[in-house]
Amino acid sequence: MDLIIKGGTVVTATATFRADIGVRNGIITHIAQDLTGAPPVDATGCFVFPGFIDAHVHFSLPVGGFVSTDDFYTGTIAAACGGTTTVIDFITPERGQSLHEATDLRRAEADGRAVVDYALHLTAVDAAPRTLREVASLAAEGYTSLKLYTTYPAVMVDDAALLQLLELARDLGIMPLVHTENHAAIEHLKARFLAQGKTEPHYHPLSRPPTVEAEAAQRVITLAGLVDCPLIIAHLTCRQTLAVVEGAQQAGQAVYAEVTPNHLLLSDELYDLPDFEGAKYVLSPPLRDSSHQAPLWRALERGALAMVSTDHCPWTFAEQKQHGRHNFTQIPNGAPGIETRVPLLYSEGVRRGQLSLHRFVDTCATTPARLYGLFPRKGTIAVGSDADLVIFDPEQEVTLSYTTLHQNVDYCPFEGWTVRGYPKTVLVRGQTVVQDGEFVGAAGWGQFLPRQPFHHRRSV
Ligand code: URP
Ligand code: ZN
Ligand code: ZN
Repeated sequence: MDLIIKGGTVVTATATFRADIGVRNGIITHIAQDLTGAPPVDATGCFVFPGFIDAHVHFSLPVGGFVSTDDFYTGTIAAACGGTTTVIDFITPERGQSLHEATDLRRAEADGRAVVDYALHLTAVDAAPRTLREVASLAAEGYTSLKLYTTYPAVMVDDAALLQLLELARDLGIMPLVHTENHAAIEHLKARFLAQGKTEPHYHPLSRPPTVEAEAAQRVITLAGLVDCPLIIAHLTCRQTLAVVEGAQQAGQAVYAEVTPNHLLLSDELYDLPDFEGAKYVLSPPLRDSSHQAPLWRALERGALAMVSTDHCPWTFAEQKQHGRHNFTQIPNGAPGIETRVPLLYSEGVRRGQLSLHRFVDTCATTPARLYGLFPRKGTIAVGSDADLVIFDPEQEVTLSYTTLHQNVDYCPFEGWTVRGYPKTVLVRGQTVVQDGEFVGAAGWGQFLPRQPFHHRRSV
């Protein structure tokens, strides 16, 4: 063994037990009591969790002349410091661009820069014959998930393309992840507000109400059912979409959904903050009124919601968000969150009794690994799995602030919140990347992760 994690309480999605963990060549080789024979890493008084997986992040995302402010280096440092050891970002081709070319460019941005392991979702922005061929050949190289959008003109696909792409995904065994909002409805409502001179962030959620999300989710789920393809609804925010998802689940359809900490913990009165501060919370789908939060937490606990991702997409408040100062539709959409997900879910979920310790691990590590073809290499603590481990001090209190977080952006949506429970030491394939809360890793340690298709997974 190269090292032994000693004296901690190991927690997986299904079990909690006291054990030491032996690591050799980056792999877990032993899980047993009182291991000796290699340098110890002290985990006394701490939980030892599998490295967490954030399956929805946007580093260096170009939108409307701006680029989101974390890249694969700064973003994965923030991930590591927050206990996340695997991220899944996106390959987003421009219309008409070859998906292979977009993939090569994206890999060049990440390789040599990422400090934790990473994978990439494909995105299809049309169903042209070349796109279908490229998706198939990239799926064979381990890009086994496919992002689809029903809104955003640069990337959205219509129902005919959706059907073709979902059918292809089924045949290839690649998992669709779909952003579901009704584009025409959003455009209609935005135009109406602007015509009335209603330009403040207050109108952002009103231009994308819950029914706009639920309608698109229902439509996409119906189309997926027609071609018998499993799918994941991205960033579900409201009771209405939850009812659609659960209805399909109860009818036996393989429908999964992710939720973000933002939608579990923040609500739409933030759009009315003075001095344009509501722009910090302009993300899509938007924050809802607080009555949606308890149903989302309960659904996460019972399994109707499968996983928690961040949709980390940071834009600076001082500059980039100001672009929409006089027109809310021009505010770059998105918010940071990659570093705060795990502490927030533990503190606000587990500690407050809204989420069991095992569901916490399941929703933030094990289920994303299963659904995206990384399990059992990632997402659990088992002999043979990568030694991606989070030694987590359940008593450490931290007051969240953009000034001390590593996210490369000038605000934190949870500024001033105090969490209890924080990652202390974080290992990626046996290498310590965070020690006593300090980043000690290196650019390029993060590896690209080719993934399995879902045909080969027992869980889907
Ligand atoms: O507002 C958001 N969520 N921006 C990032 C792109 C997306 O929709 O996931
Ligand atoms: Zn989205
Ligand atoms: Zn996103």
